[in-house]
Amino acid sequence: MIILGIETSCDETAAAICQNNLILSSSVASSVKIQKQYGGIIPEQAAREQIKFITPVIEKTISEAKISPKDISAISVTQGPGLIGSLIIGIETAKVLSLVWKKPIIPVNHLLSHLYANFIKTDKKQRLPTLPAIGLIVSGGHTELLLIQNHHKRQLLGSTRDDAAGECFDKCARLLDLGYPGGPAIEKISQTSIINRLKNPFKLPRPMIKETNFDFSFSGLKTAVLKIVQNKLNLKEKIFLAYEIQQAITDVLVAKTINACQKYQVKSVIIGGGVAANFALRKKLKLAIGLRIPLFLPEKKYCTDNAATTCISAYYQNHPQPWYKIKPLPGLLIN
Ligand code: KG4
Ligand code: ZN
Repeated sequence: MIILGIETSCDETAAAICQNNLILSSSVASSVKIQKQYGGIIPEQAAREQIKFITPVIEKTISEAKISPKDISAISVTQGPGLIGSLIIGIETAKVLSLVWKKPIIPVNHLLSHLYANFIKTDKKQRLPTLPAIGLIVSGGHTELLLIQNHHKRQLLGSTRDDAAGECFDKCARLLDLGYPGGPAIEKISQTSIINRLKNPFKLPRPMIKETNFDFSFSGLKTAVLKIVQNKLNLKEKIFLAYEIQQAITDVLVAKTINACQKYQVKSVIIGGGVAANFALRKKLKLAIGLRIPLFLPEKKYCTDNAATTCISAYYQNHPQPWYKIKPLPGLLIN
């Protein structure tokens, strides 16, 4: 089965082709350079950039996969959650292509797509996760912990009560003047070698880490950082504070994931979303889980927004819908 995936939930315009669970091509165009100038995403601007990129990106991915439209079995597209203007571009494009090429459309939930990064096959020998699994989704707008029973059934164990993990990285980076997107900026500055040589003068809270539920809260961290930056920081202090922000966020994410693994008998742990690219998070999860349960860490290029995860998600879930029923769902959650 050959699926074309289209993903336009935010500021990336992405298309990919998979043949069953093998990726043949994946292209991503990003308007992040423009967002950088403003220190964040302006939804109207992101949608305008989507219009510019959508056709060239789809053409590129079809040509790189060395297929022609007649080989495509179905078109998958992100239905939500995301920015309404951006989602419309992908969905309307998918509908037009489905009408012209006479192909079914498979709408997919972008949050679940992030987890399907773990099911991408890049070579034949590669092991894939077995279910049930604990799934941690950590993106710019969402932090969700799931019990995934099978490809059609899952249970939401907990989510953030306020800011998402990625949002916390972005907002704290802004307070430290580190630019956008904040996660990679904080990760980079945290790798400065003085961290290993000197004692960190900052200690931030680990919100809800001791609570037995699976919910998260990150807005308090941002407030704690705001209080600290009210006094002007020198570069060394900035580095230490950035490092402590990363430590605080990742400590909570790891603790809750481990609690979920202790409560539920699972065969794998899978993670996805932009924050899943974070080096500290990946390292801590590896250390905390050890050899007890197989841990899957997707390739970094499949953590942030892309369409490879969109078509793989459609391949495993495969729920085609008539085109006239497919509407953008900006607030789509996991059910
Ligand atoms: O999944 P994603 O690309 O888009 C959404 O669906 O939201 O996630 C974007 C988020 C941003 O908040 C960004 O700062 C964060 O992922 N992010 C990271 C890293 N790379 C991206 N956070 C921490 N460390 C990273 N290396
Ligand atoms: Zn995303």
